[in-house]
Amino acid sequence: MLDRADAKAVQREAFRADVLAGLSQTPKRLPARWLYDDRGSELFEEITRVDDYYPTRTETGILEGNAAAMAGFCGTGAVIIEYGAGAGVKTEILLGALEDPALYVPVDIAGDFLKASAERIESRFPDLTVQPVVADFTDDFDLPEDLPRGARRVGFFPGSTIGNLDADEAADFLKRMRGHVQAGGRAILGTDLKKDVATLVRAYDDSEGVTAEFDRNILKRINRELGGTFPVDRFVHEARWNETASAVEMHLKSLDAQTVEVAGRPFRFAPGETIHTESSRKYSVEGFSRLASACGWAVEAVWTDRGRKFAVLGLVAQA
Ligand code: AVI
Repeated sequence: MLDRADAKAVQREAFRADVLAGLSQTPKRLPARWLYDDRGSELFEEITRVDDYYPTRTETGILEGNAAAMAGFCGTGAVIIEYGAGAGVKTEILLGALEDPALYVPVDIAGDFLKASAERIESRFPDLTVQPVVADFTDDFDLPEDLPRGARRVGFFPGSTIGNLDADEAADFLKRMRGHVQAGGRAILGTDLKKDVATLVRAYDDSEGVTAEFDRNILKRINRELGGTFPVDRFVHEARWNETASAVEMHLKSLDAQTVEVAGRPFRFAPGETIHTESSRKYSVEGFSRLASACGWAVEAVWTDRGRKFAVLGLVAQA
């Protein structure tokens, strides 16, 4: 087992390698997972509360309005496996509606965060057994071997995080979750839906400027952790709709011709050149159903809001 200092050093090295590789590419890009340091996670929480960012409140409303139907879909005595342990309120809505759940298994790569979430759920649901698993759910991992036998397993993946995975990663994730829940298993998954471009772009370039700060925070992180020299105020946040990828993309645009150093290595920017920092894919229910069916799932239930902005899908594992 790595101790905390070792784990931090491993993270730092992975961050360094990803940043140097990403800034060496044309076009320049950075993996979105590095947006979420402590400050980035705080800013993301703030994003979920701004008016222009509709997904979180819309999904929460769908869960609240359909909790009983979702509980029926999961069945009595289910084992709930949640991919990512950050859903807080959403997890509590589902767990609170379930009939006699057998076990809750939150999976997250951030051990400290996972422990805190597991403790919160245990205190909120004292009769529920919680068995956290520290793992990166975007990679293969095994569930504990001692899960209750014969209980139906239900994957829970709210938050439209599936949209932050590229096509291959999304397919791999769906297949992995299918393997975890086994025959007879189910899943409840949230996805943001395709809609008019103005609404989408606004959600990722909010008028309060919180998303811009969230995006630019990655440059501050590079400066702090990797000895970077990014003049943060000479990069502006931009949200763009990419029709081919069906995704809103976040970019950081250089205002000037400039050379920035990271870990002692120079990176040249032309004026207007960008670093692509995140994609958030938007699905149609039909498009998602096709993807799901290629990965061993059938979409059996669609719960949505009045404006059909967001969908929570009930998936059934296929034999
Ligand atoms: C975490 N994820 C689902 C968010 C999204 O909507 O793609 C991340 C985000 N980035 C900017 N705003 C929100």
